[in-house]
Amino acid sequence: MKKLLSLLLVMALLVTAFAACAKADEPAATGDKEVVKENKGTDIGIVLPTKEEPRWVQDEARFNEAIDATDYSVEVLFSQGDSAKEKQNVDTLIAKGIKVLIITPQDGAAAAAAVKSAKAEGITIISYDRLVTDTDAVDYYVTFNSVSVGEAQGQYLVDQLDGATGQNLYLYAGAATDNNAFLFFEGAWNKLQPLIADGTFVVMNSSKAVEYMDKAVLTRVEMGDIIEQITTDWTPGVAKSKAESHITAAPPTGKTFVLAPNDGTARAIYDQFAKEDGIEILITGQDAEIQSIQYVIDGKQSMTVLKDVRDLVKGAIGTAIDVLEGKTVETNGEYDNGVIKVPAKDTKVITVTQDNVKAAIIDSGYYEASEFTGVE
Ligand code: GAL
Repeated sequence: MKKLLSLLLVMALLVTAFAACAKADEPAATGDKEVVKENKGTDIGIVLPTKEEPRWVQDEARFNEAIDATDYSVEVLFSQGDSAKEKQNVDTLIAKGIKVLIITPQDGAAAAAAVKSAKAEGITIISYDRLVTDTDAVDYYVTFNSVSVGEAQGQYLVDQLDGATGQNLYLYAGAATDNNAFLFFEGAWNKLQPLIADGTFVVMNSSKAVEYMDKAVLTRVEMGDIIEQITTDWTPGVAKSKAESHITAAPPTGKTFVLAPNDGTARAIYDQFAKEDGIEILITGQDAEIQSIQYVIDGKQSMTVLKDVRDLVKGAIGTAIDVLEGKTVETNGEYDNGVIKVPAKDTKVITVTQDNVKAAIIDSGYYEASEFTGVE
């Protein structure tokens, strides 16, 4: 009997101790900041949009490489394409005591609430690749020059004209919730608009683009009107069904020019157009995804834009460490997010075609040659 009682006593003590530990790890629901902070160890929190797209899985890998080389503790969380999950991720990282938040918003405007709550905790906010808009709670923006991405795509198509006129042009864009989609389209329009206006290119799939074809500079609203008609939501499935309906409505003939916003959507759109007989497809891309590099090598996708994620990660982690060590952050530009001009680190991009794919992708060490077939 005595033995049983002491055993029960020991077990009761163990259960209480265990419950106390579990409670200590929960995020601060009660706002009892002091208690929670004692358990933190994360210096830098990183929030990426989704694991469903190769682009962000690439960034995670490059961040992990960079993180190993620092003394700081860093945690990477994914938002699975959902702004509510994104907010939850930010709250989790705040509770872990981060001093710097590096965030790529799923939806630029919807992310404002999440960064505001982090800012209120004295955390420094770095917008990564995509800009958080409609708030003054952003300290720095580390990005590739997205307008020059669009210009590289537009210029590539212009360079394939060889003096021809009345050429079919199909336009596609990114997600309207992504501020980059507007910057990419602005860049492409800078190069394509003069040739749409003079009839060299004939837009086959956007009545709004035709309506605005004489306007060299579009307002945000006008660009939104066009993007609404041609958006892929950055989703290959959406890109595929849009291309299908556009090909049915306005079948391509001869040399066919396609502005595709990134690699994932470019392959989906290419595969639809490739079902049409007797046409030559010239199609753009972005991100230098492994599958698209193979498409470029095989002469399917015509080009992609290499955004060397190693550089962007270096820029973001470098900025975070400067902040943690109280150093001045060097910037080389600024972006208007609708409320403030955010100081920015702008990184250059490289056009990749069959001609320079080996040099730009293999010799640069971006990917191993073993990932591909047919690399000369
Ligand atoms: C953009 C990003 C691109 C592209 C896209 C889809 O914001 O800059 O590289 O991949 O999102 O996630």
